[in-house]
Amino acid sequence: MTHVHVVYAHPSERSFTREVLDAFLGGLDESGRTYTVSDLYARDFRSELTLAEYEREAGYDVDAPVPEDVAAEHARLAASEVWVFVYPVWWADCPARLKGWFDRVWTVGFARGPMPAGRRTVAEKALVLCTAGYDVAELEASGCYRAMRTVMLTDRIGERARASEFVVLGGSATSGERWPELKGEHLARAAELARSI
Ligand SMILES: Cc1cc2nc3c(=O)[nH]c(=O)nc-3n(C[C@H](O)[C@H](O)[C@H](O)COP(=O)(O)O)c2cc1C
Repeated sequence: MTHVHVVYAHPSERSFTREVLDAFLGGLDESGRTYTVSDLYARDFRSELTLAEYEREAGYDVDAPVPEDVAAEHARLAASEVWVFVYPVWWADCPARLKGWFDRVWTVGFARGPMPAGRRTVAEKALVLCTAGYDVAELEASGCYRAMRTVMLTDRIGERARASEFVVLGGSATSGERWPELKGEHLARAAELARSI
């Protein structure tokens, strides 16, 4: 049975991004997948490294302990075959809270080396599902699509998942009166992505 861990970063329960999360989780429910969700705003997840955390990471001190909230996140990731990231694009990247999640959770000994052979946690699949004001064609024209995809899939996911996918549900700011229809298509796609995991 495939278990999914969703990392979600948006401050508002009345956002399009929240609707995408709900559609995705609905799709997981329909297909009988079990899942956990880390709602980074609801958990008040701290995004800045402390000095002790920095020294552990910069010094490759694999034996130093990690904070409790980071260890809890490691446990959720290790218990899941699929990792999903749901967030809005803010200034051509994820919100700072999710950027800080990578800073703090991708620790030496868990997500990066040096580490004993076989200790790295690897997912079967990582899915990056983000909403954006611009649509994909506009993000491609500006170069932002490729930049965002490279940063998320090549750098942040990298070898940590056997397969990865980057999906932008865009156009909320630029599609004008087409938005209600486009939004419906995006929510249907989010649910379908979940069902096809
Ligand atoms: C601070 C901020 C920065 C944003 N930067 C971008 C951006 O760089 N590119 C883009 O396409 N949309 C950008 N947007 C638009 C959001 O991506 C869009 O509002 C969101 O995906 C969908 O709306 P929601 O907040 O209701 O979920 C930005 C929005 C905010 C609030």
